[in-house]
Amino acid sequence: MTTILGIETSCDETAVAIVNNQTICSSVVASQIDLHKRYGGVVPEEASRQHLLTINPCIEEALTTANLTWNDIDGIAATVAPGLIGALMVGETAAKTLAMIHQKPFLGIHHLEGHIYATYLSEPNWKPPFLCLLVSGGHTSLIHVKDCGIYEQLGTTRDDAAGEAFDKVARLLNLGYPGGPIIDKLAHQGNPKRFALPEGKVSLPQGGYHPYDSSFSGLKTAVLRLVEKLKQENNEPLPIADLAASFQETVARSLTKKTITCALDYNISHIAVGGGVAANSGLRKQLQEAATKHNLTVHFPPLKLCTDNAAMIACAAGEHLKKGHISSWNLGVQSRLPITEVMTLY
Ligand code: KG4
Ligand code: ZN
Repeated sequence: MTTILGIETSCDETAVAIVNNQTICSSVVASQIDLHKRYGGVVPEEASRQHLLTINPCIEEALTTANLTWNDIDGIAATVAPGLIGALMVGETAAKTLAMIHQKPFLGIHHLEGHIYATYLSEPNWKPPFLCLLVSGGHTSLIHVKDCGIYEQLGTTRDDAAGEAFDKVARLLNLGYPGGPIIDKLAHQGNPKRFALPEGKVSLPQGGYHPYDSSFSGLKTAVLRLVEKLKQENNEPLPIADLAASFQETVARSLTKKTITCALDYNISHIAVGGGVAANSGLRKQLQEAATKHNLTVHFPPLKLCTDNAAMIACAAGEHLKKGHISSWNLGVQSRLPITEVMTLY
């Protein structure tokens, strides 16, 4: 049995959790959304300052809710990459300091590996190998999960991440931040077939298209042009719900096609989805239908494990600790680090 206290501060959530193997003993998430809303996106300096204010109460709360003391903790982990440098440093410093004081091993965790581990928390019998579609505010990746720490990236985005596209389209429609949940809600009332939008394909130098890579900046521009055209053509209010539904349907169709093609090409029968955009109802519906059609299994973690949380970080750390992977006190934070380089953290 391994009990880990995990800290996640890579972006705009201060999160602390205690996880015993795959059981969540406590999971505290203090969201900064209200702070960043007025700017329409995350302001890195504000994020770091807020993490500093919130981190200690979150740690206290995680221990109290779990009804545990430091004696019960086997290791202390924090997200160290990728993310906002100042924000990551708050969690990393807190975790290292606590690990030194309480003489516990310290583990630096890759944020995307955390998202992969959200699957194990919600589906304890889930085992590698599987394909993970990771769709968040900063990433759109298709990852072949072979074992703890062993990943192959099969697809990525060439420009905007899927969540970023939701946030940017929501901003241009004046809907607020973060855009994903707002667009998702509006899409329920709209007609997804009303506007035909480009899926965004990535051309290959030798001709044809990359089968697994995504591109969302063209789609975002197409929505912008469409909005300008609609505004010019008539004085009626914008058909926001139809625009949201058509945009969401296009993103979901594009991600579904790439994921299913990749799973079939690599003969992988299990697909897990992670990251904030995994909460999207359009994506869930399309991917589930396509997976069923091709006899593939797809697992979506519950919504609170899809968005940023520290339980997924603690869960990943537990697996690494069981394998004897411990980080050096000299390990720093990194704004970028490919998931294929996870093992450089130990
Ligand atoms: O994984 P996450 O919480 O943070 C990052 O690591 O980026 O993902 C946040 C992203 C935001 O871009 C947000 O708009 C998007 O996930 N998101 C959604 C939904 N809920 C959150 N996108 C589409 N539909 C949703 N229901
Ligand atoms: Zn994330």
